[in-house]
Amino acid sequence: MLTEEQVKKSLNELLVPGVKRSLAAMNMIRGIAVSDDKIDITLASSALGEPAQEWLGNKVKEAVGKLSGSESVQVEFAEAKPAELNQIGAIIAVMSGKGGVGKSLVSALTAIALKRQGYEVGILDADITGPSIPKMMGINERPAGSSSGILPVLSRSGIEVISFNLLLQQEEDAVIWRGPLISRAITQFWEEVVWGRLDYLIVDLPPGTADAPLTVMQTLPVSGVIIVSTPQDLTNMIVKKAVSMAQKMDKPILGVIENMSYLYVAEIDKKIELFGKSKGKELSQAAGAPLLGELPIDPELARLCDEGNIERYSSDAFSSLTQALNKALSLPKKDKTGS
Ligand SMILES: Nc1ncnc2c1ncn2[C@@H]1O[C@H](COP(=O)(O)OP(=O)(O)O)[C@@H](O)[C@H]1O
Ligand SMILES: [Mg+2]
Repeated sequence: MLTEEQVKKSLNELLVPGVKRSLAAMNMIRGIAVSDDKIDITLASSALGEPAQEWLGNKVKEAVGKLSGSESVQVEFAEAKPAELNQIGAIIAVMSGKGGVGKSLVSALTAIALKRQGYEVGILDADITGPSIPKMMGINERPAGSSSGILPVLSRSGIEVISFNLLLQQEEDAVIWRGPLISRAITQFWEEVVWGRLDYLIVDLPPGTADAPLTVMQTLPVSGVIIVSTPQDLTNMIVKKAVSMAQKMDKPILGVIENMSYLYVAEIDKKIELFGKSKGKELSQAAGAPLLGELPIDPELARLCDEGNIERYSSDAFSSLTQALNKALSLPKKDKTGS
């Protein structure tokens, strides 16, 4: 007789249609019962339409059928709320005082840094009015789903992404919503997306420190916050607001990142502080949190963002950021291939 473990193993490689992660990674195997003459497998039907269920059911029967010929294989689908399937290690929110400072860029780079080390990562683009994550990652697929849930889209390097941009009919459709509506939309987003098992979910928050980002942080079980700023910003004001917001919600500030700190000109081997003197240290002291990085203005990075190839980025500044993140999150070493 087969063991449940053997059956489970045979299902591990099967990809959930629409998201292209395994049944195990999506946490959609709800039960396996093996008896003398039959094997009963229960899968979650969340976000799977009838054709997807039928396809998956047949694949499961095929895979388990290969293990042994004697038992009959039954596949059943059971409804589960997306939230019941989601097992997320930590949710990290990326916040900034205003738009255009590189919040989405930092969200993406944080996700990429973690993914490259073998962690399972997702990005929830909660910036409804200016969603830019899909563009940076070159994603334009519509998320799959059904009336019972939405599946994220997988980026080229395997990061789960969900963004309002992907749900709009036209990428250019402007979303002009006010705070309360944004909060409600994000809450719904959070409740209806099947992320499955993730080590980290990075949330690109709406800009500012007003109601919308606040509600998002109250609704989602955020573990910590990363603050993004530029040397242009009124450092004190932003940090004060961010600190008070984090305190209100009892969320630790994991660190601060200064973006566009300088421009390095190789020909003269000089760092030029285009936006004035770096305020990274000041910012970090005021926040009582480590300075995770000072990212230069990097034309190569801008180009990769425009091309949708941010996942190809590497630089000294990015390596330093990765190391600082590892320290701030106290990351254990992980097998590169992931789990
Ligand atoms: N350090 C940087 N070097 C080069 N380009 C950058 C840098 N930071 C941001 N950009 C560019 O500026 C634009 C705005 O950044 P983004 O992350 O979308 O800002 P925000 O999310 O804060 O509105 C992006 O299109 C990106 O290409
Ligand atoms: Mg943005």
